[in-house]
Amino acid sequence: ARLVVLVSGSGSNLQALLDATADPGFGARVVAVGADRDGIAGLDRAAAAGVPSFVERVKDHPTRADWDKALTARVAEHRPDLVISAGFLKLVGPEFLAAFGDRYLNTHNTLLPAFPGIHGPRDALAYGVKVTGATLFFVDAGMDTGPIVAQVAVPVLDGDDEDTLTERIKSAERRQLVEQVGRLVREGWTITGRKVTIP
Ligand code: GRF
Repeated sequence: ARLVVLVSGSGSNLQALLDATADPGFGARVVAVGADRDGIAGLDRAAAAGVPSFVERVKDHPTRADWDKALTARVAEHRPDLVISAGFLKLVGPEFLAAFGDRYLNTHNTLLPAFPGIHGPRDALAYGVKVTGATLFFVDAGMDTGPIVAQVAVPVLDGDDEDTLTERIKSAERRQLVEQVGRLVREGWTITGRKVTIP
């Protein structure tokens, strides 16, 4: 299977996928990495792995809809079976969802529907929850609202700060992402309403 991974930052989830897919037995490979900004470690990781990458910046387009269209075209060039948002900090638009909506995964660093948005671990800590985690889901038009594929629980420990909690979540999140992407590409999936079924 062909994976396109979208990143905006450090790309540690991307790295976990690059490492796992180096084994041909995994059943998928990362055929391209896309970003919404230059100069990020995620792009260096793609280069180090010999994977082509592209950058599509919102500000290079007259409107957000034009950006969405350009991003859709860039991703489509690589004929992905799955598109994975791994720390990609942009909400895609209708054109992208029309093209990839049934195969666009995102990983979020809380147990959704609690604490959507970009400060999940900080918000979880501030609320005082004792368990949080990571959620893998298919993206829909909302923010962090789509049908859930898998979740992993992570404890909040006494003395945690945003960094320690974020890192504990990220290690579980990377494992979950690799396991579940492997399962999806090997077994396939169907989405019926909010329910994701893997045969
Ligand atoms: C992940 O924890 C993801 O849930 C959040 O941003 C982080 C991305 O990390 N949205 P990385 O760039 O894969 O290291």
